[in-house]
Amino acid sequence: MMTFQGSHILSVSQFDREAIAKILQISASMAPYAARQKRCHVLDGAILSNLFFEPSTRTRVSFGTAFNLLGGFVRETVGVENSSLSKGESLYDTAQVISGYSDVIAMRHPKMHSVAEFAQGSNVPVINGGDGANEHPTQALLDLFTIQSEMMHFGKGLDGLNIVLMGDLKHGRTVHSLSRLLSLYNDITITMVAPDALQMPDSVISILTDAGHKVILSDKMAGNLACDVIYQTRIQQERFASKDEAELYRGHFSLNREVYQKYCRENTVIMHPLPRDSRPEANELDTDLNDLQNLAIFRQAQNGVLVRMALFALTLGVEEQLTQYEKSVNWYTNK
Ligand code: NCD
Repeated sequence: MMTFQGSHILSVSQFDREAIAKILQISASMAPYAARQKRCHVLDGAILSNLFFEPSTRTRVSFGTAFNLLGGFVRETVGVENSSLSKGESLYDTAQVISGYSDVIAMRHPKMHSVAEFAQGSNVPVINGGDGANEHPTQALLDLFTIQSEMMHFGKGLDGLNIVLMGDLKHGRTVHSLSRLLSLYNDITITMVAPDALQMPDSVISILTDAGHKVILSDKMAGNLACDVIYQTRIQQERFASKDEAELYRGHFSLNREVYQKYCRENTVIMHPLPRDSRPEANELDTDLNDLQNLAIFRQAQNGVLVRMALFALTLGVEEQLTQYEKSVNWYTNK
């Protein structure tokens, strides 16, 4: 199995099923800390540098929360305009400097492969929080964790699932990483619902078909949503040449209660990496589904904390020591 301690987490291609099982198992063991039943201070004194050069809410905050929940400190840089990259500094130089200040780094950047380039200059583990349209490995791991925990209620595991990925599959890095991870399991049927121009890149489709999975491409919701899990995505407006071009695709695959009742199975679980575009004209995942028990989107976002805690514990080599560093929680909590 891969060694986690001291390793960068840059792409889901680093993992085999055994490594993923390990990450998912450690993630589950973080639940009591995230639920404030106990505290864990195994990373007391450690420093995370959270470098976010592209917009983010949950990925950045959940990386920070995850580190804090293990007792560590978090330093943040947000936006290229506020950093020395805007003065022409290379990713290599920034990495040399920041890794001298920190024990681990989480980074998001708009350019594909930039996080891997940065990691070459870093002396501490670097975790990819999204590099342009390329990959988002921690999101894919939390998505897989969510699929596993949601499917458990129906007596299913990760093999033999029928999954629909829908929306902007061309530019969405979360669906690229998730497809790669799913390819490691057995007998998956995966339906890609997108306008032709926003379909999944061939390079990702062939990973799935080469592994023997069934891939169906379609530009329609009708007849394609009777599945275990629908993973809806946002039109990635920021990756289009112009806003007008992105506008062409807005609202095409609006998943609402009517569509759900018409085309889904009784127990189809809905996921979305979030943010969902809630402006009225977008309507990609309608708020009229908010009280549906199978809408897993907020449980999914919560799982991000568990998975990021696990990755910190593993890359910093403390995953066996968690229970030795527990404390009680002293404040009011209703989690
Ligand atoms: C996603 C991203 O940044 O790729 N968000 C996230 O990290 N949860 C999806 C998106 O922005 O649409």
